[in-house]
Amino acid sequence: MAEEIQKFKVSIDGIAIEVDPGTTILNAARQIGGDIVPPAMCYYSKLEGSGGKCRTCLVKVSKGSEKDPRPMPKLVASCRTTVMDGMEVQNITSPDVVDARKAVVEMLLINHPLDCPVCDQAGECKLQDLGYEHGAVNTRYEFERRTFDRVDLGDKIQLHMNRCILCYRCVFTANQLTGKREHGILYRGDHAEISTYIENALDHDFIGNVIDVCPVGALTDKTFRFKNRVWFTKPVDAHRDCPTCSGKVTLWYKGTDVIRVTGRKDEYDEVDEFICNTCRFEKKHTDDWVLEHPTNVSDQSVIASNHYHAFNPPAVIQENPQLKEANVEQLARSEKLK
Ligand code: SF4
Ligand code: SF4
Ligand code: FES
Repeated sequence: MAEEIQKFKVSIDGIAIEVDPGTTILNAARQIGGDIVPPAMCYYSKLEGSGGKCRTCLVKVSKGSEKDPRPMPKLVASCRTTVMDGMEVQNITSPDVVDARKAVVEMLLINHPLDCPVCDQAGECKLQDLGYEHGAVNTRYEFERRTFDRVDLGDKIQLHMNRCILCYRCVFTANQLTGKREHGILYRGDHAEISTYIENALDHDFIGNVIDVCPVGALTDKTFRFKNRVWFTKPVDAHRDCPTCSGKVTLWYKGTDVIRVTGRKDEYDEVDEFICNTCRFEKKHTDDWVLEHPTNVSDQSVIASNHYHAFNPPAVIQENPQLKEANVEQLARSEKLK
């Protein structure tokens, strides 16, 4: 008989759950779900080795474990820290975490152009959401922002480094899906940039997935660029019998025209299954597809306009004026929405 795995008990923002040993704090929080799940700009569950780059997922470990209850001395990246039995974690219930997240967002925006009005990612951009929830009104940065020329990566993908947050997701995608190493991060620190070695075009059946994994508008689909704002489109799940991939996609309609095809994404904005370039770039007619149903869009997205949901803090925040203060922006939003 298979030996039963001993589960670890962990509590996140006062909500207890039992998870398998080896589970990260972020994934334990995802198993609970809701507002206590830390944001993750670089971790991607389908990409091996991802995470640990952006620090948006920082949390406070106020009790290390049942055996060693000492708190961890610093905030930790929840995507890279595994749970211990008896661990207690604070995310939105910790003013330190809320403050640190503000600082991380400020850092991510230091060189960011904030040209959301002309950016194809607007409306489905996690950085935009973070800026809205945690961003400062003004920047303290006094230097010129880094700027780069746009670069075509093959004939269907364009890179605009100005918006890149160096999350490495596209690098992992290219390495792990295509088995080719033509694209990576060159230089370090303030000079780091995504580049193809000797401007190589990335041509592989699955390379279009770098567009879907990019959390910002740095990698865009040239067949869709500037065609529309995403909140004016209607996403519909569809499939086709594809010899290369699962053929399960989301079609983005403007009227009766399919103006974009993407992989289907889950509630954490990760694709369920990677799709091939033929499905993504070449099949833009309804006749190519078997339509299933309207895509289930997250309430937080502007695509689901007029369907926002109010922030629902755990009881521990509601009852504590200090914690309420720390989460003041989200609570204010919540009040407006009621
Ligand atoms: S990447 Fe996001 S935050 Fe940056 S300009 Fe585009 S929509 Fe705005
Ligand atoms: S281009 Fe996009 S996916 Fe690639 S590192 Fe930059 S932000 Fe991440
Ligand atoms: S999601 Fe954890 S460091 Fe980026």
